[in-house]
Amino acid sequence: MAKFLPLLLVVSFFSLSLPSLSENPNPNPNPKSISAYDELRLSGFPIGLLPSNVRGYSLNRTSGDFSVELLHRCRITLPPDNYLAAYSPRITGNLSGGRISGLDGIRVRAFFRWWSITAIRASGDDLVFEVGVASAKYPSKNFDESPECEGGNPSKAAS
Ligand SMILES: *[C@@H]1O[C@H](CO)[C@@H](O)[C@H](O)[C@H]1NC(C)=O
Ligand SMILES: *[C@@H]1O[C@H](CO)[C@@H](O)[C@H](O)[C@H]1NC(C)=O
Repeated sequence: MAKFLPLLLVVSFFSLSLPSLSENPNPNPNPKSISAYDELRLSGFPIGLLPSNVRGYSLNRTSGDFSVELLHRCRITLPPDNYLAAYSPRITGNLSGGRISGLDGIRVRAFFRWWSITAIRASGDDLVFEVGVASAKYPSKNFDESPECEGGNPSKAAS
């Protein structure tokens, strides 16, 4: 249980920070990468789950296996507490039945370590994020816009 509490705190702080993402709209998404965002929409997810620097993606419609390639790894600072979300240059998982599972490549920094988001599903107007055994719900509308990656120094991001 001592391990469980910090997880809940992490997701709570993440929640508080998310509305700020909508202040950072991306009016000119790369037309070459629009299909990854369309794929999210078609599956009932908002495009803001992916940052604005998607380079390409692949999806196996039979198995649900997908991978998304970013131009480079991406960090987003979540004010007001300056928690970081980090996207690896390659994000993989299984997109099937309105659910993203087996997710690898999206993490949140809090309490001096990185926490992987392992699954995401839509539930009404909310998204449910799973971080290991903990989960938390946030309004989907917080993810209406794809956030811009911060800075021009991706080499410093953790991997
Ligand atoms: C897609 O997934 C199915 C089922 O796992 C597999 O048989 C098929 O080879 C995959 N297709 C590609 C292009 O990887
Ligand atoms: C993806 O998830 C679906 C539904 O849970 C499952 O049937 C399928 O086998 C999964 N594919 C992989 C590659 O794990």
